[in-house]
Amino acid sequence: MMGDTLRAAAFLDKGGVGKTTTVAHLGVALQEQGLEVLLIDLAGKQGDLSKHLGIWSGYQDEIEDDDAWPNISTVFDDSWSTITKKLGEAATTGLVIETGEGPDLIPAHPGLDTLDAELGNIDDAQERYNRLRNFLDEHVDPLGYDAVLIDLPGLSNNVTYNGLWAARNVIVPVEPGSFEDEQADALQIDLKRIGENFNIGIDLALVLPNKIDTRRTLDREYLETFETKFPDAIAPEHVPYSQDIRNATESGQTAFSLEDPSTTADQAQASYLSASAALLDRLSDKNE
Ligand SMILES: Nc1ncnc2c1ncn2[C@@H]1O[C@H](COP(=O)(O)OP(=O)(O)OP(=O)(O)O)[C@@H](O)[C@H]1O
Ligand SMILES: [Mg+2]
Repeated sequence: MMGDTLRAAAFLDKGGVGKTTTVAHLGVALQEQGLEVLLIDLAGKQGDLSKHLGIWSGYQDEIEDDDAWPNISTVFDDSWSTITKKLGEAATTGLVIETGEGPDLIPAHPGLDTLDAELGNIDDAQERYNRLRNFLDEHVDPLGYDAVLIDLPGLSNNVTYNGLWAARNVIVPVEPGSFEDEQADALQIDLKRIGENFNIGIDLALVLPNKIDTRRTLDREYLETFETKFPDAIAPEHVPYSQDIRNATESGQTAFSLEDPSTTADQAQASYLSASAALLDRLSDKNE
């Protein structure tokens, strides 16, 4: 398996479940285990992942000064192959920003705003959904990262499909609640349907129960439901509800860099570490 870049994308057709938080924390957790990790933010121009990792304002300045070209939306353009012929590897390395937390990041860009519509204009479905995959195969894999994690929007569109196509492995954060439970079921059916339609396999690689308060009966019941429904993909431990995570997010860091973590933040760190180890096992097995 050495030398292969593992890939996974965080997705659920629902906002606010913790996709971005999960990508940030699993990224740091994989780095802690000695992997070199690249994160890619496809989740929209608001740049949540950049904010979470404390690099948003710097990148905002670049965008305002018109220095953010090429950017993540450029790699989907027809012109990308011309750009890379001209700039070589620098076209891709120029997209990457180092974060203070370990993982590198290709941040979101306002160009993502119109990307869904632009992709929609491509008639051929293989072509429409394969742009990101081609970019990763041809330009990112040669950079030698051990793992690439992709943050996706909380809705199904052409950008999302590019992420799923490229990664073939999905990380699903789930919150307690009947709606969330149904969404996770629906996703499993969707992935199967996509796989059959396009003759590719997209696997549920990790289901990570998030924002769990085990003092609540309902939360404990949903934990059991998730374990029963997703026996192969369920994370070893859930991520607790933690005010520290919310605060850390807002101050542009992960729970791993808190100086004085609360009990729930400590627990969250341990959960992300065990989840990242499980993810690594599953993706490595598949790549063999
Ligand atoms: N375990 C947790 N405990 C407490 N708050 C959390 C936890 N996980 C995530 N949050 C908070 O929940 C909110 C939504 O999380 P996040 O942005 O990661 O969700 P998302 O699925 O990426 O949302 P969107 O669909 O809008 O992109 C954030 O304010 C985040 O700090
Ligand atoms: Mg998000």
